[in-house]
Amino acid sequence: METSLKGKDYISTQDWTDEEIEIALETSADLKEKFKNDIPHRYLADKTIFLFFFDKSTRTRNSFEAGITQLGGHAHFIDASTSQIAHGESPKDTGIILSSYGHGIAIRHDLVPGEGNSYMREVAQHSSRPVINMQCDIDHPCQTLADLMTMREVFGNELRGRKIAVSWAYAPSYAKPMSVPQGLIMLMTRFGMDVTLAHPPEWKLMDEPMRMAKENAAKSGAKFEIVDSMDAAFEGADVVYPKSWGIESLFHKPEEALAISEQYKDWICDDQKMALTRKDSIYMHCLPADRNNEVTDAVIDGSHSVVYQEAENRLHTAKALMALTM
Ligand code: CP
Repeated sequence: METSLKGKDYISTQDWTDEEIEIALETSADLKEKFKNDIPHRYLADKTIFLFFFDKSTRTRNSFEAGITQLGGHAHFIDASTSQIAHGESPKDTGIILSSYGHGIAIRHDLVPGEGNSYMREVAQHSSRPVINMQCDIDHPCQTLADLMTMREVFGNELRGRKIAVSWAYAPSYAKPMSVPQGLIMLMTRFGMDVTLAHPPEWKLMDEPMRMAKENAAKSGAKFEIVDSMDAAFEGADVVYPKSWGIESLFHKPEEALAISEQYKDWICDDQKMALTRKDSIYMHCLPADRNNEVTDAVIDGSHSVVYQEAENRLHTAKALMALTM
């Protein structure tokens, strides 16, 4: 596939122009259609992508692995802990060497605030092939692209004036990265959505994505507000995206963050909260969800939920990103 995006890194949605994001969405929709109709689309025949994971994954790993196979290429899955990265090999050497063996590098490094994004930018600086961010400490641009695609499938391409509630929710399972809410507030303000961010005082997002979301909203004319209750965020929302994330300063002490979160167990998305939203509102979650903590079964399995459509779109958007850049 010859495209203007060949060789371009995809580390944050902020690195791509609106037009480039539109190309990615159009390509995703085209690849979805081809996949559904069994139309071959081997745009990356014999090409190789290296997938580095510093964290666990179901959707991201499998959308990239299945996706590159459907595009005619091959993925190497690399658990960073079993590679020489674990012995301290530098991002520079990793980037130079791996890019001389294949056609793209994708990295998930999301659990340590301050590390993942700068790690992948350093790999990218030395890689002769594109680097794709499969989730870092700051952004999860593969997820938010699939989210934008899903919202457009439901509401049409014009999302200006639609309200999205991005809310923290209680989850005891693990300190989830901050990158999904951060990615959402950056991308959805850009595309004109009125974004309301809700969280208890301890769960502030990082300064830089907050600054970018404010700047994007000012440019697009969208609203960006921060509230301290899930109810206030859900009032009149078209889209609700309640999910847990960790406390920036306590990622290395998850038990302390969990103890603080015990007082916020009522931050759960249930039928009462959904009743505050618009009749045709949608419930979204990047998954995995902590069922009956972040969200009740009734909501995630109910009529507002689009989580499986959203998860499926991870395949089509991952394929588009690889086909366009590799
Ligand atoms: N949403 C998401 O990135 O899922 P995984 O963690 O399973 O890849």
